[in-house]
Amino acid sequence: MSTISILTTILSLLSIASAVPFTPSSTDLFLHDFSKRALTCPSSDKTYYTSGTKVFYIGCNVNYAGNDMPSPNGQAAGSLDACMDICAKRSGCVGATWPLNTKKCWLKKSLSTATTKTDVWAGKLQSTSYVQGKGKRGLAYNNGAWTKYFAIAGQASKVSWMVNWYSKSTTADFTAAAHSKLDFVPMLWSNASDLTSVIATNAASAKNVLAFNEPDQCGGGGSCLGTPQQAASYYKKYMQPLSTSTRRLGSPAVTNSLSSSAGLAYLADFLTACSSCTVDFVAIHWYGDASDVSGFKQHVQNAYSVGGGRKVWITEFGCASGTVAQTKDFMRSVLPWLDAQGFVERYAYFGVFNQYQDNWDLISSDGSKLTELGVLYNTM
Ligand SMILES: *[C@@H]1O[C@H](CO)[C@@H](O)[C@H](O)[C@H]1NC(C)=O
Repeated sequence: MSTISILTTILSLLSIASAVPFTPSSTDLFLHDFSKRALTCPSSDKTYYTSGTKVFYIGCNVNYAGNDMPSPNGQAAGSLDACMDICAKRSGCVGATWPLNTKKCWLKKSLSTATTKTDVWAGKLQSTSYVQGKGKRGLAYNNGAWTKYFAIAGQASKVSWMVNWYSKSTTADFTAAAHSKLDFVPMLWSNASDLTSVIATNAASAKNVLAFNEPDQCGGGGSCLGTPQQAASYYKKYMQPLSTSTRRLGSPAVTNSLSSSAGLAYLADFLTACSSCTVDFVAIHWYGDASDVSGFKQHVQNAYSVGGGRKVWITEFGCASGTVAQTKDFMRSVLPWLDAQGFVERYAYFGVFNQYQDNWDLISSDGSKLTELGVLYNTM
């Protein structure tokens, strides 16, 4: 899996880079100004559009008949974006319809039941509040701005938590309101002094803390901590002091290598070497082919056995190979299964990115919305 190795190396560099507080430059703000995107159908169907502080839910071939606002109304608008912008600025406007043939913007004072109407595009004003989804599902991310799409009120998201391989979240960006709704889980990525020196402060209010990232792997995103016994000694020194009656600690997150010195074998030896440690749940990663649903399930079950009955967190998993369609099938098979297993506490698909592999990226390449996989992961 050399491609994986290279990409995860890049990702680990990004995770380290995220240790630097994020201060948006004007360029960042432009890039993240979602109102600049051009809405088109069918690709914008069931996505969200932000205009100023307001968020609209886009429907293709959707009409809301009647309930028009008083004059001025029915103004010319060159695009659905422009129409949403007019509605956002008009007090009392709760949505608008935009027929493709007339390109007029019909502002609504209330919304009738949505009906299907060919070539009418519509936007429905959303509550601008953000909520925490209910579920075990998490976000593995580097760009905090994109967590927003999973926290928009009213979309029944199953996403409730997030992880960025560092011990602190990047809340400096303008989606802080969304960000604060998701449970950020700090991670002590390795034994490096710039990480161990800040973990106690950064994890002060955390209910769960994740330990070393792939200590069983050198390169490819692994923290390469040596033997399981060495990893146990670092755990005793840097993780154990974080254990309190209200804070739970995860094991180092191991790869799914089948080598006798890595993967679940490493985890087993770690737990033996750390038998005096507080390890409240075990953390694992899995990468495999999209068709290997049974292999994935078996691996998660094996982790539960190795963990001696501890609950399991799959803090990274993804399809190393497979098309987007095959990956959607993989998600349709494993997500309900994970949700149904009592011994699976949390999991995070890899991940909230827009530039790695089509079957990994939950965010569109321009950063403006969820991909098909993202939509599935958000609510299925
Ligand atoms: C971190 O772990 C590596 C691998 O075991 C070791 O060589 C290094 O000395 C450790 N550093 C600290 C600060 O513990």
